[in-house]
Amino acid sequence: MNKELNLITKIHNSTRRNYLQRMLNSKILCMKEAKKYEKNYWDGNRKFGYGGYKYIPGRLEPVAKKIIKKFKLNNNSKILDIGCGKGYLLFEIKKILPNIYIAGFDRSKYALKNAHKEIRENLILHNAKKKYPFKNKYFDLAISLGCFHNLEINDLKFNLNEIQRISNKSYIMIESYRNEKELFNLQCWALTCESFFSKKEWKWIFREFKYNNFYEFIYFL
Ligand SMILES: C[S@@+](CC[C@H](N)C(=O)[O-])C[C@H]1O[C@@H](n2cnc3c(N)ncnc32)[C@H](O)[C@@H]1O
Repeated sequence: MNKELNLITKIHNSTRRNYLQRMLNSKILCMKEAKKYEKNYWDGNRKFGYGGYKYIPGRLEPVAKKIIKKFKLNNNSKILDIGCGKGYLLFEIKKILPNIYIAGFDRSKYALKNAHKEIRENLILHNAKKKYPFKNKYFDLAISLGCFHNLEINDLKFNLNEIQRISNKSYIMIESYRNEKELFNLQCWALTCESFFSKKEWKWIFREFKYNNFYEFIYFL
């Protein structure tokens, strides 16, 4: 069964990025600032991260719908988002399925504080370097978008194990590359990435660390 999905690539590819400009804009300092995952990363200057990560009604709705369809979620399902940030995707899923049980965790106090108040009590401050505070197979689905490549390889192994321990199915989205151009662009753009692996290497890692669930790669074209 093909475990590679294509749920979020369209949104990722719709953003324009000036790779070289980022490289020339105090990048080392910006990486250090971004890795705090606090206000500057989310809502500061673009050189530190998102450059203003605001809720845009409907933007993530197509992704929420695709996840619901692919994983056959309903109002009785339980889902977890690892590295949920401001929880926008969980919020969007909950708008479609009002009785679904949602949970999320993130290491960023600022992101959690700025989540929608309707879901804030379902989000907890937790660092993925530590055991997830959930029972085995508690969730029907665990997702993690844009988080796992920010882990060093030892933590990556731990997290690929943890995500499968606490869920029945899981889906992760990570940054990768398929050729020199995409590697160059990724290296220019990345502020927080620790695991720079090609698609081939990620697939090897999945086999080696026994991750046999769903994944999606995003590339910097
Ligand atoms: C690229 S952002 C994606 C946020 C969110 N998933 C989204 O798609 O909007 C990466 C997220 O991973 C979180 N993160 C990075 N390292 C983490 C860790 N060790 N433990 C928990 N969260 C982490 C960051 O705080 C940030 O919210």
